[in-house]
Amino acid sequence: MKNYPNGLLFEDDFQKELKEKFYYADADPEHGERLFFDNSGGSLRLKKAVEAKAALEAFPDCPERIHARSVYLRSLVDNGTKKILEIMFGAKSGALITELTASQTMFHMVGLVMENVPGTNAVVSSIEHPSAYDAIEYYCKKTGKEMRVVPANPVTGGIDPEEVVKYVDKDTCLLSIMSASNISGNIMDMKAIVRMAREIKPDLYIISDAVQHAPHCKMNVEELKIDGMNFAPYKFFGVRGCGFAFVSDRVAALPHHKLIAKDQKVFELGTCAPGNFAATMEIIRYVCEIGRHFIGDADEKTLYDEGMRRIHLQERALLYRMLEGTDELPGLRHIKGVTVSVDTEDLTARDLIAAIAINGVDFTECVAEYQRRGVTVYERVNTSIYSKRIVESLGLTGAIRVSPMHCHGREDIDKFLRITAEMAMAYGN
Ligand SMILES: Cc1ncc(COP(=O)(O)O)c(C=O)c1O
Repeated sequence: MKNYPNGLLFEDDFQKELKEKFYYADADPEHGERLFFDNSGGSLRLKKAVEAKAALEAFPDCPERIHARSVYLRSLVDNGTKKILEIMFGAKSGALITELTASQTMFHMVGLVMENVPGTNAVVSSIEHPSAYDAIEYYCKKTGKEMRVVPANPVTGGIDPEEVVKYVDKDTCLLSIMSASNISGNIMDMKAIVRMAREIKPDLYIISDAVQHAPHCKMNVEELKIDGMNFAPYKFFGVRGCGFAFVSDRVAALPHHKLIAKDQKVFELGTCAPGNFAATMEIIRYVCEIGRHFIGDADEKTLYDEGMRRIHLQERALLYRMLEGTDELPGLRHIKGVTVSVDTEDLTARDLIAAIAINGVDFTECVAEYQRRGVTVYERVNTSIYSKRIVESLGLTGAIRVSPMHCHGREDIDKFLRITAEMAMAYGN
């Protein structure tokens, strides 16, 4: 993928065809036209994912019965579990934890390791989402371990492997580093982090929050040899109401809440929701369709991998256009009065997010003004309890987070640039 340093755009017709598959891509049904550039807060929803979930909720049958409908519902959960693990996480072994949210899966994984694996400290980064950071803090207090926090690189907005290993030692119980930042979009070099950390402690337990990264790039737990990774379907073109996590065989073997009659690898407790699995299967089908568009027929895993690769390249091309602009339109890097924070020249280590500021206007007012002009974005500021630690560790007081997604096209980016330039001017730049 390094072959395309500035990405590779889908053909316009194909991009428009894809956008049609999402609900409310260009307009809210009551509030009118708007560019939805807040996909880090919850992505546009695939129509088929929403419909699949709704259709299955209509059936009264319990998935644990022998009746034909029940058997079908059960098969959705069993096949879905297998496909989420093998195709989405790229796992060859391990087990699936399901919860109502991704945050819950993170607390679950952290608790399992920290309550059962020896060690006197746990390591996390300063820019983690609260679900990962607070889980480490909670279990450090509970198990009497020292909490160690790796600072971010304020230039790239990421976490450097060389910095991580300064905090890991032979007594580290757990290392938790997110796969990509949900503020800067910086993608962590997880391969190097895992390799270098395990040079210090070869059997170190390592997990990664992939909630931000998963919709933008293929997860590959097998290649990383990692112990846990999670994502949230609602941030991945899907539905709310579930979080999924892969855990390695050795984590699944730790004592965990389970029904006595069930296999050690089964984390499911109580009656599951087949609709969540059916919706997630629609995400897989959709990504495979993108793969098929480029390479024709192939097995599902190959198609999915190619689909995610193309999504990543499309998004990189959109990011390049958003930052650099065109001959006619200046990009964010070139609009007078606009600052792009934690901006790196190399876009191959970035997801499609820009953290920006406009001189002369505070972040909250800026978001409101964008909304008045038909753009949905969000601010991350140090006055919010959720964002304070993260933005300050990047040396910022805040940022407007701009997060389009792959189904957006050149015209969408250009419209956003035009509106941003008008706003910058209106605020006296
Ligand atoms: C990086 C990251 N991790 C975890 C989460 C938590 O996801 P959920 O809301 O499903 O618990 C989020 C949500 O904003 C996130 O951005």
